[in-house]
Amino acid sequence: EADLESGLPLKGKKILVTAGPTYEAIDPVRFIGNHSTGKMGFDIAQSAANLGASVILVAGPTHFKIENSLVKVVSVVSAQEMHDACHQYYDTVDVVIAAAAVADYRPKNVALNKIKKNTDSFTIELEKTKDILASLGEIKKNQFLIGFALETENEIENAKLKIQKKNLDLIVLNSLQDEGAGFGKPTNKITFIDSNFKVEPMELKSKEAVANDILNKVIAHFYE
Ligand code: CTP
Ligand code: CA
Repeated sequence: EADLESGLPLKGKKILVTAGPTYEAIDPVRFIGNHSTGKMGFDIAQSAANLGASVILVAGPTHFKIENSLVKVVSVVSAQEMHDACHQYYDTVDVVIAAAAVADYRPKNVALNKIKKNTDSFTIELEKTKDILASLGEIKKNQFLIGFALETENEIENAKLKIQKKNLDLIVLNSLQDEGAGFGKPTNKITFIDSNFKVEPMELKSKEAVANDILNKVIAHFYE
């Protein structure tokens, strides 16, 4: 039984974390990606392990590494691969923290050979990827489901819509408003919103500190 006194309040709990970008192939040498580094997700995985949880870290392409007997890293490239890996482990976990910046669209057709620059202009048709978190929300049993939301307008309203649409228990709203926060930065400015729409703005802080704040929410879920 996990307990607070031991300093390992998440001992015996299993947490699935997604991290990093996904890459969607255009041809054998090119892809569509984004600026996510994976730092937020790796910091969450590290903090969770420090608290005694066993972690499955499903990570898109990133240079981050983690050596910890409590963390199993599952490396993926595309949104479809991340989707499949998450579903493979979903039944076995108590918590999901979806920090990945999953591509929303992918090329509809992937060229088998490198595309040559034969024409002056060139169009790539895109199709939607699967919404991984929404697909987990749909089949949720006891899992505590935490998502992120990146918004640049109507932040709170849009984040609340995501809670409902994806059947989440908590959302971590990421503000890009602040100069020091976001992609490639060491800090994040977040606001927690829970499934009762309680809004809790947090100070600008390091991603490590944000990771700890998020895991404190997980601990509170198990102990309150
Ligand atoms: N997410 C996911 N699968 C996708 C897209 C997003 O699992 N195909 C997850 C992200 O990991 C994040 C949450 O959903 O935890 C919200 O991602 P975000 O990009 O903010 O929202 P979207 O639902 O993609 O909507 P939009 O980009 O249009 O705001
Ligand atoms: Ca998106």
